[in-house]
Amino acid sequence: MVRHVPVARLDDLPPGTMLMVQVDGTNILLVNHDGTIRAMQGVCSHEYFELDKGFITGDSITCALHLSRFDLLTGEALDPPAELPLQVYPTSVVDGEIVLELPEGAIPVNE
Ligand code: FES
Repeated sequence: MVRHVPVARLDDLPPGTMLMVQVDGTNILLVNHDGTIRAMQGVCSHEYFELDKGFITGDSITCALHLSRFDLLTGEALDPPAELPLQVYPTSVVDGEIVLELPEGAIPVNE
């Protein structure tokens, strides 16, 4: 079972920017990657550090604390020290609204 959760207006996320939102108290990072909206867990899989303090670097996001990069599409950890991927969540845009597809219940996060 999945649920569809509107989280932000597309207008609030121009290309090349990111935005942290919360769903049920869980941080989720939205990234506008050249016009494609990606969503992933908002906290690094290495230690507790919020990824909106990091940088978009090409097709990846770089955590600002220890500089691990994560693939924006798959969440894969591309450099140490992080080993676990970021959980990524499917997104769509409906009537100008960014909508996340999330499982019912607890939102999966790798930590
Ligand atoms: S907390 Fe992100 S790489 Fe260490």
